[in-house]
Amino acid sequence: KENIYTLAIESSCDETSVAVLENGRSVLSNIISSQIEDHKLYGGVVPEIASRKHIENINSVIDRALVESGMKLDEMDCIGVTYGPGLVGALLVGISTAKAISYAKKIPLVPVNHIEGHIYANFIEDVELEPPFTCLIVSGGHTHLANILDYGEYEFLGQTRDDAAGEAFDKVARTLGLGYPGGPLIDKLASEGDPFSIEFPRANLDGKYDFSFSGLKSAVLNYINKEKQKGNELNIPDIAASFQQAVVEVLVEKSIEAAKESGMDKIVVAGGVAANEGLRNLMSKRAAEEGLETRFPSKILCTDNAAMIGCLAYYNYKRGIRGDMKLNAVPNLKL
Ligand code: KG4
Ligand code: ZN
Repeated sequence: KENIYTLAIESSCDETSVAVLENGRSVLSNIISSQIEDHKLYGGVVPEIASRKHIENINSVIDRALVESGMKLDEMDCIGVTYGPGLVGALLVGISTAKAISYAKKIPLVPVNHIEGHIYANFIEDVELEPPFTCLIVSGGHTHLANILDYGEYEFLGQTRDDAAGEAFDKVARTLGLGYPGGPLIDKLASEGDPFSIEFPRANLDGKYDFSFSGLKSAVLNYINKEKQKGNELNIPDIAASFQQAVVEVLVEKSIEAAKESGMDKIVVAGGVAANEGLRNLMSKRAAEEGLETRFPSKILCTDNAAMIGCLAYYNYKRGIRGDMKLNAVPNLKL
């Protein structure tokens, strides 16, 4: 058979997303139905609401993805689905739906790791990109440094010991009263502030490629409290810019060190925080100074989407990875 068609389903958090791909890297459709408006009111994702919204939306999102791709369900060669990590109830909606389709249509089921999926967002837009490379994965739930040696072959370098990078953005945004999700709001405000106006700590830990962001989060909180006590008006853009600079510098310097030590010539960034302008700019600039190339997905493929899940599903499918009717959600699945 010449072309392999993948239907991919992503429902690990607050986006119901379905995509259709041809040969793993060509996206025929990628429908993302965001629940952000439903969760905003509560300042973060409410798991129970997420599950219910996924159930309400999933069938119509599948229909839209098929219509937009011009393909029929019967033409799919595999059904890729995120089985972890994520919210258990949310994951189960995607998994149950994928299993039902797989069973009814006798189409192979391919389980996909969500964190790994973020990396594959980069393969979609850069068709020439091939392993090996050093990868920084920064999302709302995860912060990892790894060498991608081949498809499905990873050398783990380090991770966060406390908050994920995106989580730090969201928590600081909440402290500043900015709303949810905080990353894009801080990113926007940071462009109006001075990143060197406030000295926030950079955690450089002895576990060379590990990260820590909870101290930084507390430092921002302490700074705000002190300024309020002194009766000073807060300069929100300066706080946002200085906080962002502290996060981004550590992410960039550790990634560059890892790539150089591993003899890699490329740094690939993935996950929701890869959409951050400060990170994109500093990583590109510093990497170029060190003679390294950088890759970022376009912003829509940085945050959760089914296209990246479909890309990884294709490579998993080719490697013979299959799920069966016993496939279950694994909320704490590791990279
Ligand atoms: O990858 P993602 O959509 O979901 C997870 O798998 O966690 O990442 C969401 C995270 C949130 O914490 C959000 O605040 C952060 O990515 N984020 C950003 C930006 N856009 C999204 N953080 C900083 N700057 C951004 N522009
Ligand atoms: Zn994600």
